[in-house]
Amino acid sequence: MKTEILDGDEGVEKAAALLGAGALVALPTETVYGLAGDALDPAAAAQIFEVKERPAFDPLIVHLPSLEWLDRLTTAANDPLVLELIRRFWPGPLTLVLPRRPIVPDLVTSGLPSVAVRMSAHPLFRAVLSRLGSPVAAPSANRFGRISPTAASHVLEELGGRIPLILDGGPCAIGVESTVIAPCKGGLRLLRAGPVTAEELAEVAPLLAAGPAIEAPGQLASHYAPGTPVRLLANAAEADAWTGPGTAGLLAWSRAERPPQYSAMEVLTPGNDPREAASRLFAALRRLDAMRLDLIVAEPPPCAGLGIAILDRLQKAAAPR
Ligand code: TXA
Ligand code: MG
Repeated sequence: MKTEILDGDEGVEKAAALLGAGALVALPTETVYGLAGDALDPAAAAQIFEVKERPAFDPLIVHLPSLEWLDRLTTAANDPLVLELIRRFWPGPLTLVLPRRPIVPDLVTSGLPSVAVRMSAHPLFRAVLSRLGSPVAAPSANRFGRISPTAASHVLEELGGRIPLILDGGPCAIGVESTVIAPCKGGLRLLRAGPVTAEELAEVAPLLAAGPAIEAPGQLASHYAPGTPVRLLANAAEADAWTGPGTAGLLAWSRAERPPQYSAMEVLTPGNDPREAASRLFAALRRLDAMRLDLIVAEPPPCAGLGIAILDRLQKAAAPR
């Protein structure tokens, strides 16, 4: 299959037409690129798992074209806590895990009684959904276990030849995947750290510890993994102390000069801004990974706000495979 890359109105029209015909397309969101298919069509969902090589126990996020769909897909559309979260954070990088209605195919939820829903703020994504008029299931547009794509070229590397179209919206503004939470009686369970921070969520309701693994079935320890082994350091001084064997690249937070023992260095944020770091993280990891080094050494981000989401992705990249 030839994979076309289009942008603008032409891309939006073609993406909506392909989705309406049961095909898959890659779409830009504000977080990362998604691999989208008709959320109400089990055959499209099956294709998503196949194209991504994703195990069927890892459920998909459903992206809504409009708020009316919340009540069609879930039984929580009148819950005051849910309404408050939506008022504050939608459209945007927050995914809500809510009790589902039977209309959602079992394949999409991996048989769980809940469905993950989100509403993207990306103008091209919204344009496609409003043309289509129905929700799409869209996990990140990478092969299972690999780094999420934050540019159309990354999607081509991951899924080229497997899908007919990539809608090019340029680099993703945020760069790490949405925050995933499950609202429940006593507060919010944080299932995946992300751009909507724990501090922001705690203003709405108390944060509860995440429950058993079944609640966050996709949150395997090893994820977002480059081919090159990654070592996450406890602090920046450890990066200066590193000595071989082998060749290493440094994924630095904000330092100015490359320590001589590294053959390459990517700096996430010269200005020490976690938002800038998040937007550069996955592309920087991909560039270091492409250099075929023996090791990627990563400095830790500050442990607050968006830094928590970045730390989470680096921990997963560094986890034993
Ligand atoms: O920013 C994002 O969320 C991107 C863009 C494309 O929207 N999507 C994304 O999807 O990161 P994905 O499939 O790579 O990650 C979604 C995670 C899954 O790994 C799973 O753990 C969780 O959301 N999830 C989905 N449905 C769930 C459910 N019913 N219960 C608990 N967790 C669920
Ligand atoms: Mg993913």
